[in-house]
Amino acid sequence: MVMTDLIAKKRDRLELTREEIEYMIREYTGGGIPDYQMSAMCMAILLNGMTREETLFLTTAMTNSGDVIDLSGLEGIKADKHSTGGVGDKTSLILCPMLASCGIKMAKMSGRGLGHTGGTLDKLESFQGYSTSISEEKFRDNVAEIGLAITGQTKDIDPADKKLYALRDVTGTVPSIPLIVSSIMSKKLAAGADIIVLDVKTGSGAFMKTLEDARILATEMVHVGTLAGKKTAAVLTDMDEPLGYMVGNALEVKEAIRVLQGEEAGHVRQLCLELGACVLQLSGIADSPEQAKEMLASHIADGSALDKLADLVEAQGGNREDVYHPERLPLAAVQRTVICRENGYIAHMTADQIGLVSMHLGGGRETKEDVIDLSVGIELKKKVGDPVKKGEELAVIHARNEKDAARAEEELLACYQFSETPVTPGPFIKEIIMG
Ligand code: URA
Repeated sequence: MVMTDLIAKKRDRLELTREEIEYMIREYTGGGIPDYQMSAMCMAILLNGMTREETLFLTTAMTNSGDVIDLSGLEGIKADKHSTGGVGDKTSLILCPMLASCGIKMAKMSGRGLGHTGGTLDKLESFQGYSTSISEEKFRDNVAEIGLAITGQTKDIDPADKKLYALRDVTGTVPSIPLIVSSIMSKKLAAGADIIVLDVKTGSGAFMKTLEDARILATEMVHVGTLAGKKTAAVLTDMDEPLGYMVGNALEVKEAIRVLQGEEAGHVRQLCLELGACVLQLSGIADSPEQAKEMLASHIADGSALDKLADLVEAQGGNREDVYHPERLPLAAVQRTVICRENGYIAHMTADQIGLVSMHLGGGRETKEDVIDLSVGIELKKKVGDPVKKGEELAVIHARNEKDAARAEEELLACYQFSETPVTPGPFIKEIIMG
């Protein structure tokens, strides 16, 4: 097989075979196909798309490029969750302990934030001592013993995606549905769970800016997961404004703890119950969404979900008491109140721009090598639809110094649009797709 023939085939809108796709991924991962040829292939895929079969072959070839974690020896139902990324998304910190407290084994490999989006691993490092790089053996042991592990992907999991994602990042080929589906699903398939629930975001803070694109992405991911033998569901949710009230690593952990203590935190609790209900239904533990949500809520009410988060922190090297004393988590040196400069209603808050304000404060990375400050971020006091008055508190900036805080205040105010008339936000949960 010759890579130039495969590029020409995709350029001419012809379908690649399983053998051709497997050859391409094997050779690219092993160094036998250079980046410039793979870039041409990614651009041809971005422009001409892939059939469902091609996407499935690409996904499984990528999964098989490295280790596939075998959880079959562990008793119980193993589940995993993935979010397509956004601002203020602390869902995993709540959902995983909540499901683990219901008896589901949560085996989760997470990522770090990049650009305007946050990452679960960075957030978890707000717990001093928490290790985000445990071995596969420890990962499996923790899932078996406490029902829960959240770690980074080891270098041996999906090496094809590591190379391909870095290449796509610098060749304008990230926003391609087959490439996103195969990138996300290949990692999920390699992590070994039986059930996969996907939180597909749509809006200004998401990869998929329109509901239509998010629906296509979600449908394709559910299809690939199901064909690969996994029970898969996707929930399409709003990411037009940040999720909840906190944006920034330690701030989001504090909000997650509050949700595990019973708070709503905007839509955060609702989202966790919805995602959790999908898992409990797919696992056969609950017969209806209502029953599932009741079960999940009872594990919040009796404190067992919060205790699971403490178990996780302890099992991965942190101090479980920090979960019960969030005041011990990193706190920024400066808190600056942002005052509203007009009367009316909040019509829009640009989520990706708010994510960038947090990044500029030091809470995110512009390059993978940047070191982040876990304490900084933004505490929103109002959300879309809320009435506001001149002089009222709109947000609190958590910054390293006054200079950063003053700059962030101006950047943050530019993210808001106000209306003189009442604003009704659209539905938060847009659709649920069950495989
Ligand atoms: N997240 C991934 O892991 N891969 C993509 O291609 C996009 C989002």
